[in-house]
Formats: sequence, structure tokens, C-alpha cells
Amino acid sequence: MNEQFSKKSEAWSARFSEPVSDLVKRYTASVFFDHRLASVDIQGSLAHAEMLAHQKIISAQDYADIQRGMAQIQSEIADGKFEWLLDLEDVHLNIEKRLTELVGDAGKRLHTGRSRNDQVATDIRLYLRAAIDDIAALLRALRVALVDLAEKNADTILPGFTHMQVAQPVTFGHHILAYVEMFGRDAERMADCRKRVNRLPLGSAALAGTTFPIDRERVAKTLGFEDVCHNSLDAVSDRDFAIEFCAASALIMTHISRLSEELVIWMSPRVGFIDIADRFCTGSSIMPQKKNPDVPELARGKTGRVNGHLVALLTLMKAQPLAYNKDNQEDKEPLFDTVDTVIDTLRIFADMAGGITVKPAPMRQAALQGYATATDLADYLVKKGLPFRDAHEAVAHAVRACEQRGCDLAELSTEELRQFSELIGPDVHQVLTLEGSVAARDHVGGTAPEQVRLAIQRVRNLLA
Ligand code: ARG
Repeated sequence: MNEQFSKKSEAWSARFSEPVSDLVKRYTASVFFDHRLASVDIQGSLAHAEMLAHQKIISAQDYADIQRGMAQIQSEIADGKFEWLLDLEDVHLNIEKRLTELVGDAGKRLHTGRSRNDQVATDIRLYLRAAIDDIAALLRALRVALVDLAEKNADTILPGFTHMQVAQPVTFGHHILAYVEMFGRDAERMADCRKRVNRLPLGSAALAGTTFPIDRERVAKTLGFEDVCHNSLDAVSDRDFAIEFCAASALIMTHISRLSEELVIWMSPRVGFIDIADRFCTGSSIMPQKKNPDVPELARGKTGRVNGHLVALLTLMKAQPLAYNKDNQEDKEPLFDTVDTVIDTLRIFADMAGGITVKPAPMRQAALQGYATATDLADYLVKKGLPFRDAHEAVAHAVRACEQRGCDLAELSTEELRQFSELIGPDVHQVLTLEGSVAARDHVGGTAPEQVRLAIQRVRNLLA
């Protein structure tokens, strides 16, 4: 156990005849991990105390003492001098105890009209709201970096794949913009989740509300919450907002993981489409030739833990009767780890996107293989009047002939191509080029360089 958390034994209160065993104490304590809520806990307490004073439930002097004590506690924590005690179970009791040491009875009055149940629910919401704002900024930075990469490669052609087989040529800019769309939806999901996070549970007390004449709207306003939670039982017990956050995070990581998978494939020497700056790669302890894409691989791996945290929270919640149960203490570690993982990953990816070197020549070479323009030939025949199914069949014969000869469609002469359809004329070679193929997909959402530039402009306007 962490040395930072000292112990001293005492029974919980006069209600108890003996102290809990050390093992139980360690088992039930959360201070090892929830001390990271300290600053939001203090913020919530100050808002609560301000309201108590305003409502004349405590005196102005008590409130001033609480403010003074909390300021001191903040600086003790910042300086690493605060003594976190395992015996005091969690962040809330540790801070309250120290406050009482510092300011006496005013500290003991702070908990009037409040319970740790509504206190902790408030803390998590304050913590998550700040985390969501950080994540939103990082998603934005990542999208800007990806848009820059897309812009530099609006005309760079590579094969687009379906079933991991060359399908049709696409522009690299278009490919990267697909991820910009995904991360855009992730940002929308976070913004939507924020609305439900941003409600105040405080005032619900243990579960039923309080007998004191509190002003919940006042506290909500002080803490920047959009509204109060409207049912005390619900407010202290449900963690659906945290589950929703984990679901939105799991989707961010899923998108990161898909991008990672592509980066790993593209960087493989067998493919060689890109290089990733050395600062994101590591070598091998035995094979001197290696430069491994560790960052994308790790991100792909860390997606597993974030997905796991989502399942952990869903499972934590599913069998809890109303209202608060100690099960909910287990919400914190998955939540904290989700926040840390998503924030670190997004920060690294926003930076790494600028460290990607695109290699147009191998991309082009790959696009020239695999009959990537076969659909263009079929479309050409359709435009000359052949029904699409017949065109599909004619091109299938042409591809088969090319396979036997070991060449690409574009390498066949007009005469050779005419064996497969009389409708083919010399203008066919334009549609069989990679440039012709991508330029022809010139509509909203298409891969044409012109459309890529328009899409980039659209996203830049959204991000401005
Ligand atoms: N540490 C607790 C938690 O994280 C605080 C609430 C404790 N409430 C209680 N009734 N034991 O949920």
C-alpha cells in the first residue's frame, strides 16, 4: 500500500463497538484513488457553504472560516504536504477532518444538509465536466492536424480497399477525412453527454433530501451547472452519465484503433505507404533493422481497456436498487483510467498526425495493381448504353484476360479492349487512368481532389 496514506485506528463513531480490521479498512477505503477529486470536492464544499450562509443555516463567520481552512488545505495538497489518512476512508472525510482541525466548529458545520452521497455525485460530475472539456479541445486539435494532412494530400492517390483487396483508387486526403468525420461525431457525442453530466445532485443529501431550507438553484449557479437533478433518489444513485461518457470514450478509442491499424499496415515495409516520425517509434532489443510503430499499436491495445471500463460500469450499475450503494465507489478507477487513457492518446495522436510522411510513389504503384479502375470501365460502357450488369460481365472478362497475361487494364490497347465490347473507343484510356478515376467521383462525399478541397474547407469552417 502506498506510504502516502498513513493510518491510525479508531472506531467509526459511538455507534460502533470496535474498529474495523486493517484488511476491511483497506478494502473499503477509496482515498488511494479518489484523492484526485480533492479540488472539485473543495469547490463543491465552498459552494454548499456559501449557500448555507446565504440561507442563514450557518453564520457568515462560519463561512469565512470554512473559506480560510479550505484555502489552506488547497495549498497543503498542492505542496504535497497534505496527510491523506487511510482511516478516514475517502477524500471527503479526509478534507472535512482537516478542515475541522484548522477551523474548529465551522468545519463540523459544513456537512449540514449534505451527505457524502450527494457530495461524491457532485464531485464526479464536476470532474467529468472538466475532462469532457479537455477531450473536446483535444479532439479539435486532432481534427485540425488531420485536416492539414488531408490538405497536403488532396491529390495523392492510393488504392481504396474493401475486404482488404484493392477496390477503387481514392485520394489520401479523402481517406484521412473519413477519420475527421468520425472524430467529429465523437466530439458531438461528448458535447451531448456534457449536458446530462452538467446537473447538480447536491441537496439530495443521503437519498431523500434534507430538512434544512436549502437553495439548490443557488449552488447550481455557483458551480456552473445548467440545472439541478430533480429526484433525490436518482441523483445520489445513478451513474448513467458516467456510463455514457465511457461509451463515448470507447467510440473515440475505437476510431483511434481503426486509424492505428491502418498506420501499422501502411508503415509495414511490405506496404511502405507512410513513415512515422522516429519520436513515435521504438526499436527492437535484438533486431537492429526494426523501427516499430509502437504508439499506434499501444493505442490499439489500450482501446481494450477503455471498452472494458464501459462494461465494468454497466455491470456495476445493473443490479443496484435505489438509492446509493457502496458499489458506486467502484465507478472511480474505471472512470479515471478512461479519462487518462483518452486524453493521453488524443494528445499523442494530434502530435503524431503532423509526423506522418506520406510516400506517394508506393501508393500509386499499389493503385496501379489490382484492376482498381475496373468499375470505371464498367461505368464507361454504361454511359455508352450498355446495361450495368452486362457491362460488369464484359469487364470481368477483360480482367480475367489481364490476369492471364499479367498486365493491368490500362496496358491493353483500344483494339484489345474492343474484344470485350464493341462500344469501347479510344476515349477509354482517359477513364482507365488513376487521375481520371478519382476526378470522376465529383460529388459531395466523393473522392475527387476538388471535393476533398471543398470538404476540407467545410470542416475548417466548422472548427473555426
Ligand atoms: N467514497 C464513497 C463513494 O465513492 C463516498 C460516498 C460514501 N457514502 C456512503 N454512504 N458510504 O461512493
